[in-house]
Amino acid sequence: MKIKFVPPRLPKAGTLVLFVADGRKLSPAGMQLDRRSGKALTRALNASRFKGKAEETLAILAPAKLGVARVLLVGSGKADPADRALWRNCGGGVVASLNGTGESEAAVWIEPGDHAAEIAAHVAYGARLRAYRFDKYRTKEKPDQKPSLKTLSVLVADVAAARRLYAPLDKIADGVFFTRDLVSEPANVIYPESLVERAKALTELGVAVEILDEKKMTALGMGALLGVGQGSARPPRLLVMQWHGAEDKKLPPIAFVGKGITFDTGGISIKPAAGMEDMKWDMGGAGAVIGLMMALAGRKAKVNAVGIGALAENMPSGTAQRPGDIVKSLSGQTIEVLNTDAEGRLVLADALWYCQDRFKPRAIIDLATLTGAIIIALGHEHAGLYSNDEKLADQLAAAGKATGETLWRMPLGDAYNKMMDSDAADVKNISGSRDAGSVTAAAFLERFVNKVPWAHLDIAGTAWSSKDKPTVPKGASGFGVRLLNRFVRDNYENAAGK
Ligand code: BES
Ligand code: MN
Ligand code: ZN
Repeated sequence: MKIKFVPPRLPKAGTLVLFVADGRKLSPAGMQLDRRSGKALTRALNASRFKGKAEETLAILAPAKLGVARVLLVGSGKADPADRALWRNCGGGVVASLNGTGESEAAVWIEPGDHAAEIAAHVAYGARLRAYRFDKYRTKEKPDQKPSLKTLSVLVADVAAARRLYAPLDKIADGVFFTRDLVSEPANVIYPESLVERAKALTELGVAVEILDEKKMTALGMGALLGVGQGSARPPRLLVMQWHGAEDKKLPPIAFVGKGITFDTGGISIKPAAGMEDMKWDMGGAGAVIGLMMALAGRKAKVNAVGIGALAENMPSGTAQRPGDIVKSLSGQTIEVLNTDAEGRLVLADALWYCQDRFKPRAIIDLATLTGAIIIALGHEHAGLYSNDEKLADQLAAAGKATGETLWRMPLGDAYNKMMDSDAADVKNISGSRDAGSVTAAAFLERFVNKVPWAHLDIAGTAWSSKDKPTVPKGASGFGVRLLNRFVRDNYENAAGK
C-alpha cells in the first residue's frame, strides 16, 4: 500500500473517507461538498446505527454528484486533535474496512485546523501499521483473497508539514515490520545463525553488528546460555548491535537485551505437543530489540544505544542439558537447572551480565517471552514490568501509555528472591512452586544485573495477537518497538544526552 499526502481536493474516483465525531457529527468544514451531496450523507448517517464512536465504520454509496464510488464514514469518537492514538486507530480502521472490499484507492479528508498536519501523519502511520501482512508463503492465493487497497491519499492543506511529521513514524514502522517478519518466520527458517544474518541488514543504517559464536562464548564463560543451546544442531549466538547517534559518541549507552529462543520445545523437560508451534515466537524479545535498533538508526536518533540478542534453540537430544545439571554463568554464579523449560532466564542471565560488564550502560531494559504465568496474570492487554529503579519504571510506563503498548508494574523483593535459592548451587532456575511464576522469573534475572538500573518486560502475552487490533493485524505484533522508541525519545534523546 502506497501512502501519499496531497492537497485537499475532492477525489474523482475510489473511496472518500470522512471522519465523524461521536453524536454523528459530520463537519466537512473546508470541504467543497455541494448541498445535495451533504444532505444525502446526513440522511444515510441518520438511517444507521452508526454514531461516530471510535472504531465504528459505515460504508455508503456515494451521492451521484460526488464522483467517487463510495464514502466511508469512520468514527472519531471525541475527535480530540491532540489524541494521536485515536487518529492512528482511525487510520488503521480505514485500512481494515477497505482491504477486503475490492477497493484499490481511498482518500482521507483531514479537517483543516491547527493540528491537521499532525493528525494526517498519525492517520497515515496507523494505516501503515495495520496494512502489514506476512504472506510470503501463501503461494496459491487468488487476487480477490489479497488485500485490495493500493493507494491511500491523505488530503491535508500543509502537505510539507505532514510529510515532515510522518518521516520518523515511517522509520518506526519499518522497525515494527522487521520485528513482525522475524517473529512470524517459522523456526526452520529463523534459527540463531540465520537470525544474525538478517540482523546484519542493519549495518546499512550505520549500526555496528557483532556476532559471538559458541567458541567466543565458551572462552568468555557463558555456561548458562551455552547450556540451553547444547541440545540443538543449530548452534547458539550472541548478537551485539551498537548505534552511536549522540553527539558525544563516548556517552554511556542505553541498553536493550532480548530473549531469542528461536524455538522452545522445553528441552528434556519437554512441552506438550498441543500448541508447541507457538514457541517459534519465543524470540520475540530479541526480535523487538532488532526492530528497535532499526527504528532508532532509521530515524537517526540522537542517542547511543546497544541491542543484544541472546539466541539459542531449546531442543531435547542426546547432547541436551538435563534437569539437575549445574552450569556456571558468566557472572560466576552457579545455576541448578531444575527445569530445562525455564531456559529464557538462563540465556538472559549471561546476556545481561555481559551487557552491564562490557558497556557500563546507563540502564538496561530486557524483553522476553518469559513465562506463561504473566498471561495468567495480565492476559494480552499489558506486558509485565519489573524494575529495580522507580524512575525507570515510571518512564517506561509513560511510554507504554503514549504508544498503546501498555505495561503493568509487578513486584520484586527479598521474599521472591529467596524462593530462587538452591540447595546445590548459588541459584536455581525454577522456584519449585507455581506461585508467582512470572515474579520468581524476574527475581532470578535480578541476580544478574549487578545493581545497574534495570527493567524487565515479560512480553509472553503481547508479542503475538490472536485478534485484529486497530494498528496491529493478528499475528506478530512487534510489541516493544514503538514503546521503547518512545521511551528513548522522551528520556534519552537530546544533544547533551540527558
Ligand atoms: N517461552 C516460555 C514461556 C511462554 C509460555 C511464552 C507461553 C509464551 C506462551 C518459557 O520458556 C517457559 O517455558 N516458561 C515456563 C517456565 C516454567 C518451567 C517455570 C512456563 O511459563 O511454563
Ligand atoms: Mn521454555
Ligand atoms: Zn521459552
